[in-house]
Amino acid sequence: MAIHIEPTQATLGAVVTGVRIAALADGEWRAIEDAFHQHGLLIFPGQHPSHEEQLAFARRFGDIEVLAEGMTTVPIANLDPQGKLLAQDSQRMQLLKGNEGWHTDSSYMHLASKAAVLSAHVLPSAGGETQWADARAAYDALDEATRARIADLVACHDYFRSQAKIGHQAEVGSGYGFFAGEKPLRPLVKVHPVTGRKTLYVGRHASSIVGLPDDEAEALIARLNEFITSPPRVYTHHWQVGDLVVWDNRCLLHRARPYDYNETRIMMHTRIKGDPRTESALNAPGLAA
Ligand SMILES: [Fe+2]
Repeated sequence: MAIHIEPTQATLGAVVTGVRIAALADGEWRAIEDAFHQHGLLIFPGQHPSHEEQLAFARRFGDIEVLAEGMTTVPIANLDPQGKLLAQDSQRMQLLKGNEGWHTDSSYMHLASKAAVLSAHVLPSAGGETQWADARAAYDALDEATRARIADLVACHDYFRSQAKIGHQAEVGSGYGFFAGEKPLRPLVKVHPVTGRKTLYVGRHASSIVGLPDDEAEALIARLNEFITSPPRVYTHHWQVGDLVVWDNRCLLHRARPYDYNETRIMMHTRIKGDPRTESALNAPGLAA
């Protein structure tokens, strides 16, 4: 069966069938990499990847970002290590709730993420979808006055502040090695290092803008996030067990949708590091090429 790449109805995303991500021919990989750059999000139904297969597939996209406790593929699940449902007020549950706000992975770190792989292993009976929004198409659709206004603006990305907004006092070192020193500064307009397309780079971790009063910055950030995450720039994925997806964190936002937290949801997540030449914060020490 030949590889088939079917774009979604949104400006981003395509469903890829006719391949096994664990056994890709060279030509299939080239088609997948091209489609990744074109669509930003690829959905592979029915893959049922082992952790090793998921990690090997993620490695095709680049070096892996080490997440909690030295792990390269981590569960995103509402269970504790003993397999019991997490308490609603636990640090881990607050982190998962934070993922329900539009964001791009690791923008609050010195080195932001390039891409991420996620697969579905146990799903609740309803809800728990993932949504992605197209920040490239958003830049393209932006009015000229706003483009001119934001052209040289730089935002500060602050995990602690974005969690505080949802009522969570995040603990330093609570599992993800949160950036605890000087907060990273990132331009609001990013040039995609492969496609050269301009893209809005905002999300919920953008918490202030250099040179703007806080209220003005917050209003601008909220307006840009709202614009990025409006149709036709949003795709919603209704998961089936065995699905695997990969997305480009350099040009998309994403969020998890709520579900009944008394039911179990287990996803496996692998994060690919950004290139230090293009995904470093402006104030990252010693990373600029
Ligand atoms: Fe995320």
